[in-house]
Amino acid sequence: MHVIAISNQKGGCGKTTSAINIAASLASLGKRTLLVDMDPQAHATYGLGVRGDEPRVSIYNVLTAQSEKKHKFLESVIMPVDENFDLAPSHVLLSTIEQEFLHKDESVSQLHEVLGRLSFPYEYAVIDCPPSLGFLTFNALRAADTVLVPIELGTFSLIGVGKLLSMVELLRVKMRHTPKVYAMPTMVDTRTRFARHMIEEIRAAFGENVLSSAIRQSVSIRESQARGAALVKYDPKSRGCVDYLILTQELLNKMPPAVVLPEPERITIPSDRLKDFMFKTRTAQEVYLVGDFNNWRASPESRLWQTEEGLWQKRVFLEPGRYRYKFIIDGQWVVDPSNERIEQNPYGGLDSVLEIH
Ligand SMILES: Nc1ncnc2c1ncn2[C@@H]1O[C@H](COP(=O)(O)OP(=O)(O)O)[C@@H](O)[C@H]1O
Ligand SMILES: [Mg+2]
Repeated sequence: MHVIAISNQKGGCGKTTSAINIAASLASLGKRTLLVDMDPQAHATYGLGVRGDEPRVSIYNVLTAQSEKKHKFLESVIMPVDENFDLAPSHVLLSTIEQEFLHKDESVSQLHEVLGRLSFPYEYAVIDCPPSLGFLTFNALRAADTVLVPIELGTFSLIGVGKLLSMVELLRVKMRHTPKVYAMPTMVDTRTRFARHMIEEIRAAFGENVLSSAIRQSVSIRESQARGAALVKYDPKSRGCVDYLILTQELLNKMPPAVVLPEPERITIPSDRLKDFMFKTRTAQEVYLVGDFNNWRASPESRLWQTEEGLWQKRVFLEPGRYRYKFIIDGQWVVDPSNERIEQNPYGGLDSVLEIH
């Protein structure tokens, strides 16, 4: 699996936009792609239509479980976005993690390890980094084989880029990890000579490692984010979408094809143990999945996502066994309408039944 981190200390230079649209472009080119939101501000998560007020599990739960050696699987927080496109969402709690791991050296490889244990055969993981160079970004750089540095050409600034490059250098010296780093011009106004001049400046800092495809300024980009969808979904003919597809193709040409190798130490979860539960309702405010696998408890961990208008989803990792379960829709317990296996329970009601082999 190739891991692409999108990082720049400067806010507003197009990291999140690029993470969403590169991941969506990879998926639309048929590559199985996971977008990992490592920014506590969770803009990528919201940018894909997840509502901010929902209590939910996130990459935070996986990274903290990791530290306690509980080895929680990333699979348990991943939500499907589209065909070939999944999201490991962020949460504001992620901002507290820096404190928790302050004095633990090994913690810089946490994300790397979590991604290494993924059993689902993703070909690409794209990581959206926060606008800072702390623990979260270091984890992302450690996990990445490719780092993209978006540089906004409108208000051109290479401030902070030097620090990012030093961090990459530190990785090389301390951990013998050498990701490829590319500058990526964003928000380019092609009408100005200024932009052309700036590309020369970036070349001075990054040498040959500047992507030749640039992302132009475009209104459709702002609009698609407001609508909670990637451009390939919202406006596939737009200039922004075309730019991101061309850039993604350039990246693909630069990387060797992604090989999904079964590593010997890898703990594999057979994909038939990852069960996607779904419930369709347009009127519900909240939907929970409760059953033998979670002690029938409605909690943030058992809450479903509204992945699109009226469609609620949750992916659960289940050990082999027989499970009874139900959904709770705004306080009302109901069986799974998409599952024909229903059984009487001791309380006179009905439960849905599921068997994992
Ligand atoms: N190519 C572009 N053209 C126009 N607006 C853009 C473009 N790329 C990003 N934006 C807008 O700029 C703002 C900052 O972009 P964002 O990707 O969130 O930056 P970052 O993640 O680095 O903080 C957002 O409102 C986004 O919609
Ligand atoms: Mg961002």
